[in-house]
Amino acid sequence: MDVLVVDHPLAQSRLTAMRDARTDSATFRAALHELSTMLAYEAARSFAAEKYPVQTPVATAQGTKLANPPLIVPVLRAGLGMADAVLALLPESSMGFVGLARDEHTFEPRAYMESLPADLRGLPVLVLDPMLATGGSLEHCCRLLVDRGCTDITVLSVICAPEGIARLEGSGLPIRLVTASVDERLNEQMFIVPGLGDAGDRQFGGM
Ligand code: PRP
Repeated sequence: MDVLVVDHPLAQSRLTAMRDARTDSATFRAALHELSTMLAYEAARSFAAEKYPVQTPVATAQGTKLANPPLIVPVLRAGLGMADAVLALLPESSMGFVGLARDEHTFEPRAYMESLPADLRGLPVLVLDPMLATGGSLEHCCRLLVDRGCTDITVLSVICAPEGIARLEGSGLPIRLVTASVDERLNEQMFIVPGLGDAGDRQFGGM
C-alpha cells in the first residue's frame, strides 16, 4: 500500500494545534479544515488530468481539468469536518456518506448509515476520516466501496497508528493512504498515542 506522509510545515502546524489538549472545538475544526485542504491537494497531485484549449483575452492556451473527479466519501461523524474543505478543492465531485461508530468494548465498527452510488466501476473514491486506529472502520468502509466495483481508493487521514496501516495493507484492498502523521502505537483503549484524542468528540462534543 502506498503511504504518503505530508510533512509540509504548514500541515504539521495544523496537526500540532489539533494534538494540543488545550485547543477548543472551534479552533480544532478550523485546523482540521485547513489540514484537509493540504492533504487533498497533495493527494490530487497524481490524479489524471485532461488538456483542452482555452481562449485567453490574447490567444489560445492549453487548459487543464481533472479527467475523472473522484467521489468524496466522509466517514461520519469525524470525517464530516474534512468534507467542506475537500469539496471546495474538487467542486466537480459528488459525495457519498458512510456512518460508522466504533464499539467501545470490541473496538469493531458498527455501521448505522450508508449512502453510496450502487455502481462505482471506473470512479476513483476519496475517503475522509481523521483517524486510522485499529483500521476496522476504514477497512469496513473500503470494502463497501470495493463491493460496488471501486478499484481506486485514496484515504485521507490526519493521523494513523502503525497497527491500522498494517490492517489495511493486509486487507489487500486497492488503497492509497495520504496522512499528516504515522504515530507511535495504540494504547489499551485502542486510542492513537500520542494522537489527538477522539476527533469526533473534539469537533462535535461527546455522545
Ligand atoms: C473514530 C474515528 C474513526 C475510527 C477509528 O470514530 O473517527 O472513524 O474511530 O478507529 P478504528 O481505526 O479503530 O476503527 P468513532 O467510532 O469514535 O465515531 P465518531 O466519528 O462518530 O466520533
